Amino acid sequence: MRVEGTTTLLTGATGGIGRAMAHRLAACGARLLLCGRDAPRLAELAAELPPGVLTVAADITSVAGREALVEAATAAAVEVVIHNAGAQEFGLFQEQDPAVLQRQFELNLCAPVLLTRALLPALVRRDAAALVFVGSAFGSIGHPGFAAYCASKFGLRGFAETLRRELADSAVRVHYLAPRATRTALNGPRVVALNQTLGNAMDAPERVADELLRLLERDRGGERFVGWPEKLFVRINAVWPRLVDAALAGKLATVRRYASLATTERRIDS
Ligand SMILES: NC(=O)c1ccc[n+]([C@@H]2O[C@H](COP(=O)([O-])OP(=O)(O)OC[C@H]3O[C@@H](n4cnc5c(N)ncnc54)[C@H](OP(=O)(O)O)[C@@H]3O)[C@@H](O)[C@H]2O)c1
Repeated sequence: MRVEGTTTLLTGATGGIGRAMAHRLAACGARLLLCGRDAPRLAELAAELPPGVLTVAADITSVAGREALVEAATAAAVEVVIHNAGAQEFGLFQEQDPAVLQRQFELNLCAPVLLTRALLPALVRRDAAALVFVGSAFGSIGHPGFAAYCASKFGLRGFAETLRRELADSAVRVHYLAPRATRTALNGPRVVALNQTLGNAMDAPERVADELLRLLERDRGGERFVGWPEKLFVRINAVWPRLVDAALAGKLATVRRYASLATTERRIDS
């Protein structure tokens, strides 16, 4: 699908990856409808982009927020939807507040599923349309310290896979894009320190935005995993999960050291 001239809805537009995606999509000639909760941040981002960018300040975990976004998307005749908004809470599962666990599922999984349900009837009537779900390497590898986040992204990947197959005879392409660790505010200082200790690479958000463009240009829907060796680990985990169990068991003490201190760290806004 050609990005140029398509009307594209991007959630999580004001975040690290979202901003990079908005700039890349605009540079390729996409017409943008940007969503986040913070109206001034959205206005600031729109001012950096070519004229004509539309914005909707909405909390997509609320019914009212999703309705406002669907109304704006319908009025703009959106053809491409990029479900990018997400949140991650690092910590040992048994120490985490149930409300924080719930909000990760609501934002990372329920919101994109329900928005897709509302937007799909219009998308299937178009000559060409695309849905992109921004998952994570942690949507394929369960990693200690990220239980709810991993579970929500596993769910998102399963949803994208199912929908891709269910819509195979339609003009709607369904894609799943899985970044590895990326340098954005999603990762608090303890996650950054953990990644440094474990030797995990962290990408620039622009790399993820470039991968998004490659994905959209494909004729067929599919999955794209960012970064080596993470994309290999995803395959190994699928075939030999015991190998990954053993590798992560060796890192558990390190994860615990950072995670158990993380209870006062970044919270999902309520
Ligand atoms: N950074 C990484 O290491 C990494 C790795 C793999 C996958 N990912 C995935 O990439 C995506 C983008 O992550 P990021 O790193 O760019 O995160 P980020 O910098 O924290 O940005 C999150 C974005 O989501 C928006 N958002 C949060 N809660 C919302 C809500 N209830 N309703 C509407 N919008 C909401 C935020 O805007 P407001 O706060 O203004 O609403 C912001 O625009 C996420 O799905 C994440 O899981 C990230």
